[in-house]
Amino acid sequence: MYSILKAEALTSNIYLMVVEAPRVAKHCLPGQFVIVKADEVGERIPLTICDYDREAGTITIVFQPVGASTEKFTKLKAGDSFQDFVGPLGRPSELCTEDLEEVKKKHVLFVAGGVGTAPVYPQVKWLHEHGIKADAIVGAKTKDLVILEKEMEAVCDNLYVTTDDGSYGRHGMVTKVIDDLMAEGKHYDLVVAIGPMIMMKFCCLTTKKYDLPTIVSMNPIMVDGTGMCGACRLMVGDEVKFACVDGPEFDGHKIDFDACMKRQQLYKTEEGRALLKLREGDTHHGGCGNCGGDK
Ligand code: NAD
Ligand code: FES
Repeated sequence: MYSILKAEALTSNIYLMVVEAPRVAKHCLPGQFVIVKADEVGERIPLTICDYDREAGTITIVFQPVGASTEKFTKLKAGDSFQDFVGPLGRPSELCTEDLEEVKKKHVLFVAGGVGTAPVYPQVKWLHEHGIKADAIVGAKTKDLVILEKEMEAVCDNLYVTTDDGSYGRHGMVTKVIDDLMAEGKHYDLVVAIGPMIMMKFCCLTTKKYDLPTIVSMNPIMVDGTGMCGACRLMVGDEVKFACVDGPEFDGHKIDFDACMKRQQLYKTEEGRALLKLREGDTHHGGCGNCGGDK
């Protein structure tokens, strides 16, 4: 069992938890995720690691309830525990595994949308701890949905907060801020955009105009997070990849977001999963017990 040491609501629908998981905390790096299961019958939920403390042996997760299992998570309090907390899974962010001298040459702009601020934070923090300055845009629908602002401020060189309705910070979506920064003459070598699929799609369309390499996190298309169910299959250029084992981070300019969003919808129904299995054959993986892909 994995004890919950802290549980708090960051907004009306975004929750933060600090969980005792020393082995995960010892080995994880920014960009990786954990699979969390509340109890024996609970679903496996993949969540990107928001922060870790190797000495204390803790992992911080941030989540938004989107189904019965994550709704159950919201009822857990400090002192309760998770049945399973498996990780670290997936590949760490390239920024944290590349040659440090090469990373130091890059001026990185992070773009975080809503709950996507949680997976962005450990990456900016990691760069900050290694003496590398980075800028970040944090976007939220309204003022009360902005999360981790103080934490981001502490590790960013320049932080630009924007709200869709203009109730706090700048006015408009994150893509408008990218355009504004470019118009102000800012120079970046790399953009890392993490948030809802639609945001990452439009960020990539925006950065393409400026020929700015862009990394995105395909965490939202994951289901079981272990390379077994086939849900997170995607094309990156002309290569078949699985977000949970080959990612979750990929070159955003090589991703067909419309195809991924359509696939996400198809995967929700039994008929859709059967269709995907028929179309994708062996490269569908299977094993989730839903689509019969491994039978
Ligand atoms: P949201 O819908 O409130 O959007 C957050 C911000 O994204 C907006 O304020 C806006 O600035 C930007 N945005 C949204 N639509 C846009 C568009 N069409 N063009 C340009 N910018 C746009 O986000 P939320 O409700 O906090 O996010 C929930 C989603 O985030 C879930 O679907 C979840 O799967 C996803 N998520 C993704 C990751 C990841 O790793 N990619 C991590 C956590 C959550
Ligand atoms: Fe990647 Fe299931 S989430 S194969």
